[in-house]
Amino acid sequence: MSGARVTVTTRRPARPEALVVFDDARLPAAVREEVRRRFRAGARVAVVPALGRGAAGRFAAARAPRTADPFAWRCLGGAVARALADEPVRRGVVLAPERLDGDALAALVLGLSQGSYRFDRYRSRPGSRPPAITLVAATRQAAARARQALPVAAAVEQARDWINTPAEDLGPSEFEAEARRVAREHGLSIRVLDAERCRRLGMGALTAVGRASDDPPRLVIVEHRGAGRRGGFFALAGKGICFDTGGLDLKTASGMELMKKDMGGAATVLAAVAAAADLGLALDVRGYLALAENAVSGNAIRPGDVLTALDGTTIEIVNTDAEGRLVLADAVALARREGATHVVDAATLTGAALVALGRARVPMMATDDALARALEQAAERSGEKVWRMPTDEEYRRQIRSEIADIRNMGKGREAGVIAAGLFIAHFAGDLPWGHLDISPAAWAEGAHDLGPKGATGVMVSTLVELLRAHTTT
Ligand code: BES
Ligand code: ZN
Ligand code: ZN
Repeated sequence: MSGARVTVTTRRPARPEALVVFDDARLPAAVREEVRRRFRAGARVAVVPALGRGAAGRFAAARAPRTADPFAWRCLGGAVARALADEPVRRGVVLAPERLDGDALAALVLGLSQGSYRFDRYRSRPGSRPPAITLVAATRQAAARARQALPVAAAVEQARDWINTPAEDLGPSEFEAEARRVAREHGLSIRVLDAERCRRLGMGALTAVGRASDDPPRLVIVEHRGAGRRGGFFALAGKGICFDTGGLDLKTASGMELMKKDMGGAATVLAAVAAAADLGLALDVRGYLALAENAVSGNAIRPGDVLTALDGTTIEIVNTDAEGRLVLADAVALARREGATHVVDAATLTGAALVALGRARVPMMATDDALARALEQAAERSGEKVWRMPTDEEYRRQIRSEIADIRNMGKGREAGVIAAGLFIAHFAGDLPWGHLDISPAAWAEGAHDLGPKGATGVMVSTLVELLRAHTTT
């Protein structure tokens, strides 16, 4: 926690302990040769001690991407922060390239912040603190743009902390408490529908999934009102399964090991709404967090049971491990009933997403071409990657049930990502619907440019960009 200590200024501090530039020509001749040697050896970031009388203790150069692609700049920012963390310095100064455009500059800030992330809540002796980073922007305008990325960086970090926290310390009730704290600190309004209220409203899917746990399910709704007028709102819905045992269709030990992360969608949504409020975005946005624990007990839902969702749809349970789409069914149906104009959900939904696209791109779906394009552009501008999956009618047949309106699993192993997405789409009805299946990308199996092994906070920045773009359309 508390890694992201990035500040933005236009004044270059005198005598920094470490100075990072993106163009080795600006380095003192004494260190330039050594930097070039390391670049030739394949390094992207080279940190060398100052030789002789230098203004800085250490000089570092980073090989600047030839493009203005935000993804490349975000990764490089992460690599710079990670390289600085290996050095005995408390503060690094990074000189932003003058030619960098707004999106790439913001992406660089996100990368610098993410690369210095640590999660040490459970260590009795925390490791060394990563150095604070000062980014020196070329102009006041550039600095203002770079600063816009800071609330987003904080949101990514917050989402990572939640996802990294074990289920023991972040069950539905603790997550609710976190949402209340976030609402207070970021000026959001909040409503909590407890299990009893959800049941009385008719949310038969969310309440059934969560009923085997000692910590009851609930729906938490946070709202940022930035539009200043009455009317529709943009809805984000997040899968908040605080732990997924699979239910009676129990997961294997290795399949269950990391299931504390199954609330990643809800974490992403809550963090994005908090950032939207910090940025004062001129729109109304509501985050619907469907919180539950998919546990095992005598009263757990069974394969073959039929549930009734908030909108009256009857659902045949084929597999109790396909629970994320069930809790989202009620969340999306409620968003629609309350007057959303758009709904985008985020969820660690399927193992099939890893088979389909690996970890590099997040499977995205949408029933509306404009919303699909907006999601693609938002991802690109913030330096993340999505890939649209098809929604043809043929796939919809997979979730037809013989005894109910719809079934919670496709047939066999075919197109699992799409079957799961289309299940959720059913509950959006004719609302423009978008979907991000973050199950592989939400978690890194090892250290990477943008951080250590563990939660990534993927799609937080994409959602914030999506909301920002929506304010101008
Ligand atoms: N939470 C899992 C999906 C998951 C798997 C997320 C691995 C992250 C890593 C989800 O609830 C699930 O178990 N889905 C099943 C659906 C199947 C039973 C139709 C799956 O993908 O196997
Ligand atoms: Zn599951
Ligand atoms: Zn799950």
